[in-house]
Amino acid sequence: MPKLEKIWLIIGSGSLVLFLLITGVMAVSMGLNPPDGMQTTVEPDKVEEQAPFDNPGLEKIGPNEYKATILSFVFGYDPHTITIPKGSTVHFEITSKDVVHGFHIPGTPTNLMLTPGHVSEYTQTFNEPGEFLFLCHEYCGIGHEVMYGTIIVEDT
Ligand code: CUA
Repeated sequence: MPKLEKIWLIIGSGSLVLFLLITGVMAVSMGLNPPDGMQTTVEPDKVEEQAPFDNPGLEKIGPNEYKATILSFVFGYDPHTITIPKGSTVHFEITSKDVVHGFHIPGTPTNLMLTPGHVSEYTQTFNEPGEFLFLCHEYCGIGHEVMYGTIIVEDT
């Protein structure tokens, strides 16, 4: 076997072993978890019968504070539109009843992956009035690009 070929074989198999080792160490000793904010688990088949996802929507929980319970599905969100006054802090809790979806509000740090069986949570304050899109940024099928909703922040 030519010397160069041998060297490349060693580099190739060496990096394969290294990558498997990194993945293995992260999964076993560092407790590799699903993406951030996915502590609570639910049963995706029965999620619509379980609180709070049996009644998704916006709930006022304090002065300028809301809880938004959102159920995502192919290809949309329930509720589709959320209206809040300017300066509101919204605690999002979102899950998926079918496949992996995303929840991203462009221009804000809100960027969640919605995995069936998990509840993703994030808190965002809306200080600027206007209309914000939220959209699915995880490819989920034929209707992926029409999967979006709107947050209307009213000037008070
Ligand atoms: Cu849901 Cu892409």
